[in-house]
Amino acid sequence: MLHVFKLGFAAFHVQDMQAMKKYYEDIAGFTLTETDKNGSAYFSTSTDHHNIVLIPSDRSGIHSFGFQYESEGSREEVIEHLKSLGIEASKAEDGHPVMKDVIAFQDPEGYSVRLFRETGETKKKGFKSAGIVPNKIGHLSVRVSDAKAQVEFYKKLGFDNTDWIEDFFGFMTCNRDHHVLNFFTSETKGMHHLALEMRNYQHLISTLDFLRLNGVNIVWGPSRHGAGHNIACYHYDPEGNLIELFTDGDVYIKELGIFDPRPWHKDFPQKPKVWKTDECLSLWGVDFEKALV
Ligand SMILES: [Fe+2]
Repeated sequence: MLHVFKLGFAAFHVQDMQAMKKYYEDIAGFTLTETDKNGSAYFSTSTDHHNIVLIPSDRSGIHSFGFQYESEGSREEVIEHLKSLGIEASKAEDGHPVMKDVIAFQDPEGYSVRLFRETGETKKKGFKSAGIVPNKIGHLSVRVSDAKAQVEFYKKLGFDNTDWIEDFFGFMTCNRDHHVLNFFTSETKGMHHLALEMRNYQHLISTLDFLRLNGVNIVWGPSRHGAGHNIACYHYDPEGNLIELFTDGDVYIKELGIFDPRPWHKDFPQKPKVWKTDECLSLWGVDFEKALV
């Protein structure tokens, strides 16, 4: 009835639209595809109408995030299906002018989630030639009070739990990527980080030079994580949202229950498992900054 298969967008509350628009357009290299009557700005790094949404607000932080789905059923039938799973979902028409069959609900931690069938056409085709220009938004990490409960909730939507770091950091996927969503048990709420996928290691490294030349400090990395094995590096956008740049992440072969073999895998084959924190955060021995925890 419902197949969720892609992280489509992340939307942010924004206090300083000028600074954030400059970052996402000129630094991150997304294409501005639309500004709506409320002043919300839509940015794409793909054929999608948008992957990032900036919403004028009196605060900063994550507003909502959305996943693309397919279903043989109508939107009403999908909503009924979700209700049968104990998820109170409804139609959503607001805020996303071109998306089709949008469904809204709140997850158990109160995060606003959208499901959409079609992303809608963007009138601006092609990719930027300046800025980071990521392949895609790869994954989103949010702080929660109970990662285990959150993992169980997203399993109902068809996500797989790939890895854990001990019992406080759960990784979820709805496709071949090691994770598209993860949950970090914390005493606070909010986004931990949004990850942008680089084309390769050279793209990542040249991007770090580009960031520094544009006054953006690197707060950690690059190094290779254990869970996911992605080479990762972190910085902040102008309103303090932590942005990960990554490449070379694990590819999940769901049918086999393993990650596609790589030379740097510790286990052979590498299967979903529980990692210890010290063995997981940096396989290259880079000290983990307090800014990340
Ligand atoms: Fe990440």
